[in-house]
Amino acid sequence: MPTHQDIREVNRTMWSYGEYRHVADLLRPGAVDLIERLAPGPGTAHLDVATGNGNVAILSAQRGARVQGLDLTDEFFPDARERAAQAGVQVDLHRGDAEELPFEDESFDLVTSTYGVQFAPNHEAAAGEMARVCRVDGRIGMCNWTSRSWTAHFQEILSAYFPSPTGHQGQPMLWGDEDYLRELLGKQFALTAERRELWYPFPDAEALVAFFESCFGPCIAARNTISPPSRWFELRAEMVEMTERFVTADGRGTGVPVEYLLVVAEKKERV
Ligand SMILES: C[S@@+](CC[C@H](N)C(=O)[O-])C[C@H]1O[C@@H](n2cnc3c(N)ncnc32)[C@H](O)[C@@H]1O
Repeated sequence: MPTHQDIREVNRTMWSYGEYRHVADLLRPGAVDLIERLAPGPGTAHLDVATGNGNVAILSAQRGARVQGLDLTDEFFPDARERAAQAGVQVDLHRGDAEELPFEDESFDLVTSTYGVQFAPNHEAAAGEMARVCRVDGRIGMCNWTSRSWTAHFQEILSAYFPSPTGHQGQPMLWGDEDYLRELLGKQFALTAERRELWYPFPDAEALVAFFESCFGPCIAARNTISPPSRWFELRAEMVEMTERFVTADGRGTGVPVEYLLVVAEKKERV
């Protein structure tokens, strides 16, 4: 039976594979949306959980916020620091787990996570930690994949072939459900949410799957561990077939729309 520490280590390793920054470029418009909506300003004490290479953290720091970023893996931190330096800002980065935030109670005005905290295995612990470190009248802001998004289907195929050692006690995509989040954060929070869409511009399903196969840590981890290795080609064929159902051609060109829930929850009283 794997311990909590074993599971954390597997997750950390899984996320650290690949050229994550290319995936982060696809996710950046979600960070832009969230930061425009939250409008942090000079002096805002902001914690970005599961910060990756700093998409949200850097945008917030550019508006004058004092930003701390935390992630399970520090593999993306050199890239985050380089991007912050190019933007002329500073972000303090910490390696740590969303389920055990190394910060005092009520120490942030703003706590965010984009496509990140939803992958922590213990939902109650992760939500409880974000709630704990947020001050009263402060806000939690998130972008979370929904259960009908392309990402949800992608994860479903991965986990069907590759029984997850990651110890998920809850499905990550539940964080894309407004009612579930209301219950998770509790009555101390007033929550609003709206469905939005990212756009992954690829000429066809094959190109999109090839991209994720080469850049996205969890996909690379699955490919490295699947047994026998030939099963990867079955899995890959399913991913291409599933992605074909999402490919759209419209004014944006050809690509895949990817749904997420943009959430803002204001802390009304002490938890
Ligand atoms: C899809 S990426 C999103 C990164 C970033 N927020 C963005 O929007 O570009 C997911 C991130 O969650 C991090 N992560 C996963 N589980 C975590 C946990 N339990 N605690 C902290 N970070 C975690 C991963 O290491 C990875 O950087």
